[in-house]
Amino acid sequence: MELTGKRFLVVGGAGFIGSHVVDQLLQQDVAEVVVFDNFSRGSRENLEQALLDERCSIFPHGGDILQTDVLQDAMAGMDGVFHLAALWLLHCYEYPKAAFDVNIRGTFNVLECALKAGVSRLVYSSSASVYGDAVQEPMPESHPLNNDTFYGATKIAGEQMLHALFHRYQGTAQHFDYVGLRYMNVYGARQDYRGAYIAVIMKMLDRLDRGLPPAIYGDGSQAYDFICVSDVARANIKAMAADATDQFYNVGSGTKTSISELTKLILEVTESDLEPAYEPAGQTFVQNRIGSIEAARNDLGFLTMVKLRDGLRELVDWRNGHREQVEARRRAAGVDIQQP
Ligand SMILES: NC(=O)c1ccc[n+]([C@@H]2O[C@H](COP(=O)([O-])OP(=O)(O)OC[C@H]3O[C@@H](n4cnc5c(N)ncnc54)[C@H](O)[C@@H]3O)[C@@H](O)[C@H]2O)c1
Repeated sequence: MELTGKRFLVVGGAGFIGSHVVDQLLQQDVAEVVVFDNFSRGSRENLEQALLDERCSIFPHGGDILQTDVLQDAMAGMDGVFHLAALWLLHCYEYPKAAFDVNIRGTFNVLECALKAGVSRLVYSSSASVYGDAVQEPMPESHPLNNDTFYGATKIAGEQMLHALFHRYQGTAQHFDYVGLRYMNVYGARQDYRGAYIAVIMKMLDRLDRGLPPAIYGDGSQAYDFICVSDVARANIKAMAADATDQFYNVGSGTKTSISELTKLILEVTESDLEPAYEPAGQTFVQNRIGSIEAARNDLGFLTMVKLRDGLRELVDWRNGHREQVEARRRAAGVDIQQP
C-alpha cells in the first residue's frame, strides 16, 4: 500500500513497539495516525513526541478492543490498521482466560471491525513464540509450530483467523490484505520489565547502576535473536507498504546471541569492570531460537539496521534520560534490585 496521504489506526499504539510504529509512521507523508489503546500497559509518555504532531491523536472515546462499538467507530475511514494489542507471555500463562479474551476474541474484534470498515490492509503482531524450541536453525517460516505456551496459542489463533478470513472474503467487496510479523526478542527505548527474556537487560542495567554484578541464570548458554525496537517498527512500516499478502514473516536480526555474550556487551557498553554472578537457572520457556530472515528481506525489503551494541547504547541513553519512568516501570513490575 502506498502510505502517502493515508489514515492509520495503531491498535496497541501506546505500548513499547506500537509507540515506535507511531513515531515512524509520522516520519512518512501520511494523513493521520490514530492510537487505539486501553493503557493497561502502554503509556502517554511513550507518545509524548508523537502527540506534538497534529496528524497524531489518541482515539478520544475509548481504547479497548473488547468494546466493539467503540472500536468500530475508531476504524471509520481508516486505510490501514496495525494490530499490536495483546497480553504478554507471563500474563497469558497466569491468566489464560484473560488471554483468550484479549488476544483471541480481541483480535477477532479487530478483524471484524476492519472488515466492516473496509480497511484495505492490516499488519498483525504475531511472535516467534509460535515456533517453540527450534528443531532447525535458522527457523524458516515453515518451521513446525512447536509452541506449548498459551501466549503462543493465542498468536497462532490470530494468524489462523487472519488466514481464514482472508480466504473467506477474497474476491468480494470486503477483501483485505494482511501480513503477520513473528518478532524475535525485542529490546530498546521504552521497554519495561515484563518481557520474559528481555527484562534481563533492564535488570542487569539496574544492578550495574548500583555497582552490583549482573546476574546470569544457568550457564548463560541460552541464546536468542535480539532485535532493536526501531528495527521492529521499521518492519511494520515496510509490511504495510509491501504488496505481499496472506503471509507471516520472521522479524529478527538473524544473529544468535547467548546470555553470556549479551552480558559481556552490556558490561562493555556501560564501561563496567564488574564480573557477572552466576545464579541457578530460573523459569525459561524457550532455550534457543533464531529465525531465518530471508523471506522478510525478499518480500518486504526488510533487514535490521541497528547492531546489538549500538541498540544497547541507545537503551542505556534512554534510561539515563528517563530515570523517573524507568523507576515507575520497575515498581509496577515489582522488581527488587537487590535480588539477582
Ligand atoms: N516485545 C517483544 O519482545 C515481542 C515479541 C514478540 C511479539 N510481540 C508482540 O508485539 C505486540 C506489541 O508488544 P509490546 O512489547 O509493544 O507490548 P506492550 O504491552 O508494550 O503493548 C501492547 C499494547 O496493547 C495495549 N492493550 C492491551 N490490552 C488491550 C486491550 N484490551 N485493548 C486495547 N489495547 C490493549 C497495552 O496497553 C499496550 O499499550 C504484542 O502483540 C506482542 O505480543 C512482542
